[in-house]
Amino acid sequence: MSEPSEDLSAFIAGLPKAELHIHIEGSLEPEQMFEFARRNRVDLPFASVEEIRQAYRFTRLQDFLDIYYEGARVLLTEQDFHDLGMAYFRRLAADSGRHAELFFDPQTHTDRGLPFQVAADGLLSAMAQAERELGVTSKLILCFLRHLDEDAAFATLKAAEPWLDRIAGVGLDSSELGHPPSKFARVFHAAGERGLKRVAHAGEEGPPQYVWEALDILRVDRIDHGNRALEDPALTARLAADGMTLTVCPLSNQKLCVVDDLAAHPLPLMLALGLKPTINSDDPAYFGGYLNANYRAVAEATGLSREALATLARNSFTGAFLDEAATARHVAEIDAYVAGSSGKA
Ligand code: HPA
Ligand code: ZN
Repeated sequence: MSEPSEDLSAFIAGLPKAELHIHIEGSLEPEQMFEFARRNRVDLPFASVEEIRQAYRFTRLQDFLDIYYEGARVLLTEQDFHDLGMAYFRRLAADSGRHAELFFDPQTHTDRGLPFQVAADGLLSAMAQAERELGVTSKLILCFLRHLDEDAAFATLKAAEPWLDRIAGVGLDSSELGHPPSKFARVFHAAGERGLKRVAHAGEEGPPQYVWEALDILRVDRIDHGNRALEDPALTARLAADGMTLTVCPLSNQKLCVVDDLAAHPLPLMLALGLKPTINSDDPAYFGGYLNANYRAVAEATGLSREALATLARNSFTGAFLDEAATARHVAEIDAYVAGSSGKA
């Protein structure tokens, strides 16, 4: 894959942006996996960093999930989660990222015997440090694993109770096919009653029906992925009418064969249809790139203009769970950046 022109790369590099779809466990780089395995005395089924990278060949979501849950076994202490978070925030800041809304999967950790507190407090301390030292703000989103049952999701919401003032919302991730959003109707309702925002992965591999269910049954504030919504014109019209933010992940879509070819990625069509897509990295350590790498790859493959890229960055702030003043400040920064860049060939 060739890179976009130097100019477009430089434009992307300096463009202020937010990331709304990042699984923090998916930012675990192979080097860090080895470091945590060593310090925690966890056996890894890989002999080297190269061997790990060799294993990152996926044809569908489940291939990736199997290896992603395996990798997460090295995370055992609050310090591990803190270090994982800080490594991500440093990369985000280097990509002109100003804000992130992090997914984490508590059940992946509590099912291994870690108390809920370990992941939550480790991540929250990294979030505080990132704001202090890097000026990057963030929010935390607790994801329920959809391959487990709704009772397990309720138990997780209960375990999270003491942290709910520091958790912005709930999400739904893991194996999509066979696990429709309707399976989690009651727990999402309970989360809404506690004042939590709601998001759900839908339409990554699952049919348009799952996106309808996320909207009408889970009453989500954003759709994560949403690619397959485009198969249903009535659904597409509904998403446009609602101004629903879609958190789209180009390199993830390519790695998991959600798209055949990045050149055929639906992002330009989503923009043309009046939808509100954003660009995100999903699981950057596994899919080959952080936030700017996703902007560059999809811009190069589909020919997105600077104006389109600026729209995508604006969408990342208008779709974030930020207050109006913060959103306006970030959008104004983008407007000034675009104005300052125009005229440069
Ligand atoms: N899809 C579903 N579940 C996930 C993903 C994803 O891309 N990444 C981590 N959990
Ligand atoms: Zn995801």
